[in-house]
Amino acid sequence: MSPLDVRPGDDDPAMLAAAARALELVADGALVGLGSGRTASLFVRLLGARVRDGLRVTGVPASGATAELAREAGIPLAPLSEDGLLDITVDGADEVAPNLDLIKGHGGALVRERVIAAASKRQVILVGEGKLVRLLGERFALPVEVIPFAAGPVMRAIKAAGLHPRVRLDEMTGSEFLNENGNITLGCAFAAPLADAHAARALEATLRAIPGVVDTGLFLGTAERVLVGHADGRVDTMVRDGAVR
Ligand code: A5P
Repeated sequence: MSPLDVRPGDDDPAMLAAAARALELVADGALVGLGSGRTASLFVRLLGARVRDGLRVTGVPASGATAELAREAGIPLAPLSEDGLLDITVDGADEVAPNLDLIKGHGGALVRERVIAAASKRQVILVGEGKLVRLLGERFALPVEVIPFAAGPVMRAIKAAGLHPRVRLDEMTGSEFLNENGNITLGCAFAAPLADAHAARALEATLRAIPGVVDTGLFLGTAERVLVGHADGRVDTMVRDGAVR
């Protein structure tokens, strides 16, 4: 089945409204980072329709699935290069805190999502209101990408840090899920949500210091804005200073 046949999120007016709003931020000639997951895929499909109408953009995809979708949608693609920054990256998230700190990576592509976000002038996140939380860790386990060789010691160290890690399994095969980097993902459940932004940063530092951890799904201070779609088609814009427009 082609990725275009899946048409993720098409029936979700909240996500459609947020993705349509994000299109307004994409200028002609822009170099656009394309995230991964259902919401990012919806944005790719809308962007493809604009490209077919004459918008000139080049996409830099965060995953093979996004690349395939973008190609089918007619979006020219390029790899990351040494020269200059991407103009904008549009991606989804699993949780959004009031200060725009995020949990991402449920789809297993968090490292590449981090790379394109860091290589972009701005990261714009699309979510429905159900992803807004007061404290990170209220709803989602934290994805942590780990090299398979280090799985045992990393699990031990993550438990010592107070989280409950479980190796993510491939839904089709039932064996451990290996992502495009050949790494495993640990879904790390929180005993309690993170108390505040400082706790999130302390946890990120602790986890990243464990040998064998490649990256975590804590995206702290990366989002320039979050577009929050509502079922009635309204879109709220949260910007980094916490204002809602
Ligand atoms: C992929 O690795 C993720 O970071 C996604 O952006 C995140 O999980 C949100 O995904 P959905 O848009 O599919 O909910």
